[in-house]
Amino acid sequence: MGLVEEINKRRTFGIVSHPDAGKTTLTEKLLLFGGAIQVAGAVKSNKIKKSATSDFMDIERQRGISVATSVMGFQYRDKQINILDTPGHKDFQEDTYRTLTAVDSAIVVIDVAKGVEPQTEKLVEVCKMRKTPMIVFINKLDREGKDAFDLLDEVEQKINLTACPMSWPIGMGQRFQGVYNLYEKKLVLFNPHEKQEETIEFTDLHDPELENHIGERAAEELREEINMVNEVYPEFDQEAYAEGELNPVFFGSAINNFGVKELLDCFVDIAPMPRPRETEERLIDPSENKFSGFVFKIHANMDPKHRDRIAFLRICSGEFKRNTNYLHVRNEKKMKFSNPTTFMASKKEIIENAYPGDIVGLYDSGNFKIGDALTEGEKLHFKGIPSFSPEQFRIVHNDDPMKSKQLAKGLLQLMDEGVAQMFTKEFGGTRIIGTVGALQFDVIQYRLQHEYGAKCSYEPLHLHKACWLTSDNNEQFKEFLQRRKRDIAKDKDGQLVFLAESAWQLKTMQENYPDVGFHFTSDF
Ligand code: G4P
Repeated sequence: MGLVEEINKRRTFGIVSHPDAGKTTLTEKLLLFGGAIQVAGAVKSNKIKKSATSDFMDIERQRGISVATSVMGFQYRDKQINILDTPGHKDFQEDTYRTLTAVDSAIVVIDVAKGVEPQTEKLVEVCKMRKTPMIVFINKLDREGKDAFDLLDEVEQKINLTACPMSWPIGMGQRFQGVYNLYEKKLVLFNPHEKQEETIEFTDLHDPELENHIGERAAEELREEINMVNEVYPEFDQEAYAEGELNPVFFGSAINNFGVKELLDCFVDIAPMPRPRETEERLIDPSENKFSGFVFKIHANMDPKHRDRIAFLRICSGEFKRNTNYLHVRNEKKMKFSNPTTFMASKKEIIENAYPGDIVGLYDSGNFKIGDALTEGEKLHFKGIPSFSPEQFRIVHNDDPMKSKQLAKGLLQLMDEGVAQMFTKEFGGTRIIGTVGALQFDVIQYRLQHEYGAKCSYEPLHLHKACWLTSDNNEQFKEFLQRRKRDIAKDKDGQLVFLAESAWQLKTMQENYPDVGFHFTSDF
């Protein structure tokens, strides 16, 4: 098979949701359809238990398990599907953000009773930054929940998506009978006892046969609702979806395997194949002959005796081959890989080659940072792999003066892995660690001690946000930096960052220094 055929076959996506909406269950059902796993429950082991919030070691252990399911691949129809796993735990949200830089599309799972929840909002926002095409799956229709129209209003208002219902629920909870598949004009009926669905071709909803299938009241309601749907919502448009401007919506119940096949069939029809990628130098087309890719995630080995790590590489163009020399652009070094590995749901295996859309795990002894590029020689820098402003901050202190070198090295490597972000104050050199969740502070402390033999403690620091700075107005910028010098720090790449104490202070600065750009991500 040629390169173009390989690319056309691939669909690489991520499933995002607020915890408990049903992401793990849906992933598992998709894998069952694809034959990648044989029994339900295989993916569950990857899930970080809710009860574990206070026990970070348990979470790290679970994260260890999750390497095995970082990428779940399976064949469905004539497509090679790659699902990239995204951690559900909110303290690891930055991992999820970064994984989303490596997908070509996403499925957003929403709980019918809870509607759009805070993490759904954040994750959708990250997808929108890259115009990632998104399909919405409204889950748990076997339970009582919100009215379908109200839910779609929420989807439109809270997360700014343009809903395009592809299926419509018939009843809900106890009265849930199934859905009408608007995309294929089929009635899909739910049998709660056998947990199976029955599909009936049904092009004309005015056909009196409808009453025989779902009863008089439900038939009347369905006709009315579908009329409204047709009036209110746009028709499906492939181009608008691919541009991230239209979002197909499905209803179902993942645990009952209901609506999952419809979702998968439609996904395979409409989801985008690997898309061109932006670099600072030029746009990279997947079908270019020369290989290129970037690292979006680094996973440390849990065993302190083996400090090797696994760097996850997304292939962007050309063919990646085992035992071939590639350029590590940032280090300006040639590297070759004898054991490039795929991490599938059921097995881990060494691969000979991989194509755009594929994810390869590379064993690494500390050469890679998030965002690093590998190419056949061209000096490319991939865009759109930002750091996000952390939400919690603490000052790090060295608790063992004999080990300051180890502490510095450990901190640097953990930051390269993306465990957290470190900002060094211009004034006084104080090191500040910023994270999305409180748990990372414990993880860092533990790993510094066990992997690097260094000890640290933290001092609480109340900050609102870290904002990356830019400006074209040299004079104003200089004045700002001088005035606020106690609040200025540098990130790991030497970029200037303003540490805002409060939303009010940030707003005042934005007003006083209109020519200074305050950015909430490092990608601008
Ligand atoms: P997550 O990965 O998004 O966090 O969610 P997960 O799939 O683990 O699902 C969260 C809970 O919701 C699980 O119950 C799961 O069984 C349930 N669930 C998923 N899909 C459906 C559905 O369609 N209908 C209903 N009624 N429930 C659904 P749990 O009790 O937390 O876990 P478990 O004991 O079942 O494993």
